[in-house]
Amino acid sequence: MPGVARVAPGVAVSVRDLWFSYRDAAPILRGVTFDARAGEMTVILGESGGGKTTLLRILKGLVMPLRGEIEILSSPLKRGLMGRLDPRVAYIPQQLGLIRSQSVVTNVLTGALARTGTLRSLLGLMPVEHTEEAEAILHMLGIGEKAALPVQTLSGGERQRVAIARSLMQHPTVILADEFVSQLDIVTSREIMSLARDVADRGVALVMTTHELDLAREFADRVIVLRDGAVALDSPAREVDEAALVKAIRG
Ligand SMILES: Nc1ncnc2c1ncn2[C@@H]1O[C@H](COP(=O)(O)OP(=O)(O)O)[C@@H](O)[C@H]1O
Ligand SMILES: [Mg+2]
Repeated sequence: MPGVARVAPGVAVSVRDLWFSYRDAAPILRGVTFDARAGEMTVILGESGGGKTTLLRILKGLVMPLRGEIEILSSPLKRGLMGRLDPRVAYIPQQLGLIRSQSVVTNVLTGALARTGTLRSLLGLMPVEHTEEAEAILHMLGIGEKAALPVQTLSGGERQRVAIARSLMQHPTVILADEFVSQLDIVTSREIMSLARDVADRGVALVMTTHELDLAREFADRVIVLRDGAVALDSPAREVDEAALVKAIRG
């Protein structure tokens, strides 16, 4: 699969005793500990305001935890030093963060900035191999024919595919995806979850938040419930029924 660096099976993301608060507010993460494995889809569930987005932003190195350890493939997460974030971690925010006026392929190429530095691309000197790789990834994700179109002309599902393509262009060990299918109809949501499943199957650790309990149970390998700032449930997805999930989420 283009865009996917092969990684050994095993733990890709290790989070230990993570604490976080916004300024002087009470801590919203209070000792979060879990692992996410390569080749698996790990879904984080929990009520709104429970800290899911904050957790993903910490894992990307965008915000600093109060304390706790985060390792990516057994080495510490690199944090935003001089504006350079850990290139092993790709982050797809809830609103996707695409440049709507730019073409699909240009958006996908920005994924390569994380590993190549910005200067060449700012000068319009993206190597031709990058363009070829971006086109191969788009083709694989079923939107090869959209490469030249501005993102703003695409449907919601197509935009999700562009965001996945951009993250793959980064050659990530981990993809963090926030509320990945929350704005899509159920049919498109299932298509995108299935695509995400394929991406995980190729060796990426995919860590996703969602409110869709059925989709989580159907597609994920592991479900983790955050409640009151800690992990209230951490289980193989197949071993938990909906009632148990709801109970873990609501308390
Ligand atoms: N930038 C911020 N400054 C202060 N408080 C914030 C900020 N972002 C989020 N919060 C608060 O932190 C809590 C957790 O938010 P969030 O991580 O977005 O939860 P979730 O994604 O689970 O809905 C909420 O109470 C939210 O209002
Ligand atoms: Mg959120």
